[in-house]
Amino acid sequence: MNETATSTRNQLVIRQLSRIDFRNQLTADIRAGLSASPKWLLPKYLYDDLGSQLFEAICLLPEYYLTRSENEILSRHADEIAGTLNGPVTLLELGSGNAAKTRNLIQALLRRQAELHYVPVDISASALESSSRELMQSYPGLSITAYAGDYFTGLKALEGEPSSAGRTLALFLGSNIGNFDPGEALEFLRAVRRVLRPGDGLLLGADLRKERSRLELAYDDPLGVTSSFNLNVLLRLNREFDADFDLRGFRHLAHYNEVAGRIEIYIESLRQQTVHLRGLEMSVDFAAGEHVHTENSHKYDLPGLASMATATGFSLDRTWFDEAGLFSSNLFLAV
Ligand code: TRP
Repeated sequence: MNETATSTRNQLVIRQLSRIDFRNQLTADIRAGLSASPKWLLPKYLYDDLGSQLFEAICLLPEYYLTRSENEILSRHADEIAGTLNGPVTLLELGSGNAAKTRNLIQALLRRQAELHYVPVDISASALESSSRELMQSYPGLSITAYAGDYFTGLKALEGEPSSAGRTLALFLGSNIGNFDPGEALEFLRAVRRVLRPGDGLLLGADLRKERSRLELAYDDPLGVTSSFNLNVLLRLNREFDADFDLRGFRHLAHYNEVAGRIEIYIESLRQQTVHLRGLEMSVDFAAGEHVHTENSHKYDLPGLASMATATGFSLDRTWFDEAGLFSSNLFLAV
């Protein structure tokens, strides 16, 4: 771990978790995914600098209700959420992105305590830097220790840190939990639980099961922003591995698998083609109509969320919904 930026009165520290490990992992994952049958790419690689900005644009789309629904919940109930843990709170956020929704909770906590330590973890160092600087400017009482890395690496680094006085409220917003398969989600929740103490909380965003048409539109908008976000991973491979993906030869697909309760996202090859990744000394053949899986987004119901909590050392204390009942914010208490 090395520190790349420290500024003003020690209030903002950004820790870059090993770039070499990240690069090795990326290389191994790309090799494995493109040699597999069926092919796959991991969702975390969608978030390079451009990908992170395209995702922010997705959050503004009329069809992508998730962000607005969650923001509605957080703006309406922030004081109540902030008040459920007694005493001074440290705020930990996994996958903070631009931290726009987090502002509700930061403000609510700063109404209860003069100072707040905010610890965001995000895969995009550029998103972390810009959001941290903006937050520091908005809130004089805030100090930030940010970790640039994936969730599990960030959590491992946090396990080694001396724990703070008072309670920790962890945030995992935006239905990011849905991007894990069920087993991985439990593994992730256990890893979060390990950095918490009994009585600490995890506020978990979870999108709810609903009719197919609404879900499929949220993941395949007519403006094509989601398609750009998904296909951008191929641009990333062109840039980082000297590959020659022709983006016109591929398209974005979103399908709701009702039995599994998840949106499945793919990149489809529109023709038979061979792509060269010179940086990996690898060629990949695609059949016409072949799918590369890039992400799942699981949708939940309350019994499912409650059993995830009890399986991982939490209890589901409370759930808040938006007015339209599309989305849920769940307070898991560490037992
Ligand atoms: N966490 C987001 C979600 O599941 C990610 C996301 C939104 C996404 N739209 C996407 C991922 C399209 C891949 C493609 O809702």
